[in-house]
Amino acid sequence: MKKYQGVFERIKNKYPELINERPLYYKEAAELYDQISIVYDDYPMFLQQAVIHGGPILELCCGSGRLTLPLLKAGFRITAVDLSEDMLLNLRQQLEKNKRYEKYKNNVSLVCQDMTKLDLDETYNIIMIGATSIRLMEKDFIAFFNEMHDLLNPGGCLFFNIEDLPASRRSNEAENPMGVFDFEEKDGKLALICMQRFIDYEEKRATVNFIKIVPGTEEKILLSQTEYRIFGKEDIEFAAEKSKFGSCEIIKDANSVNYFCRMLKKN
Ligand SMILES: C[S@@+](CC[C@H](N)C(=O)[O-])C[C@H]1O[C@@H](n2cnc3c(N)ncnc32)[C@H](O)[C@@H]1O
Repeated sequence: MKKYQGVFERIKNKYPELINERPLYYKEAAELYDQISIVYDDYPMFLQQAVIHGGPILELCCGSGRLTLPLLKAGFRITAVDLSEDMLLNLRQQLEKNKRYEKYKNNVSLVCQDMTKLDLDETYNIIMIGATSIRLMEKDFIAFFNEMHDLLNPGGCLFFNIEDLPASRRSNEAENPMGVFDFEEKDGKLALICMQRFIDYEEKRATVNFIKIVPGTEEKILLSQTEYRIFGKEDIEFAAEKSKFGSCEIIKDANSVNYFCRMLKKN
């Protein structure tokens, strides 16, 4: 599918000299993600599962530590994996700069790896993936779940959240609504962020486009994009049944339209 669509495509084509284009999670768009990620409030469920299963935790797609940092403060030992050096750098900087994390620093390892090609020499009590990031993974779900099964200790748990997207557009669904947010930058300036998701139900893929503008500055418009596959909870249930886990418990997220998926490795 086309990376940029609608007004994002028009701005990119018409004003290339005004644009700083970065893939989401890289360079300036790493900070952009952190600004918009405040919409997620999935931490309590991840904490609950961490308490039930205990550490060590393997957190995939950790980003700049939205879940990692509070879990670390709660006393868990964590291996935090992300594909983006820039997101991991933001996490490392928070660990180094903020005195609150000083005493927990030895409990966390930061690893820059692709979650579909992990090379780790430990096994874990829980593997977690926050912010519905499993959809960024292109691998077949059954193969991925089997790899996660091998990385878990007996009794361990794979826990992640998903957006349950329908196989075709719902008749009452508004087409591609645009979200507009205002944020305060670190230097106090106003930033305006517009984001819009475009779904191709035939290709079963979505592209999400972003622009960030800081009015009154010389800064270029930040144009960013990410894309992922779309699927529903029945796709996860089917793959879990075919995988070494054998089943998946699906739990509705009371705070959003999302679902949590919980798969247990038998003792
Ligand atoms: C939606 S963000 C989630 C960040 C953080 N966990 C949170 O909850 O806010 C997705 C993260 O997954 C990372 N990512 C994308 N594809 C990946 C892959 N194949 N392996 C590991 N990390 C990946 C991105 O770099 C990004 O930091």
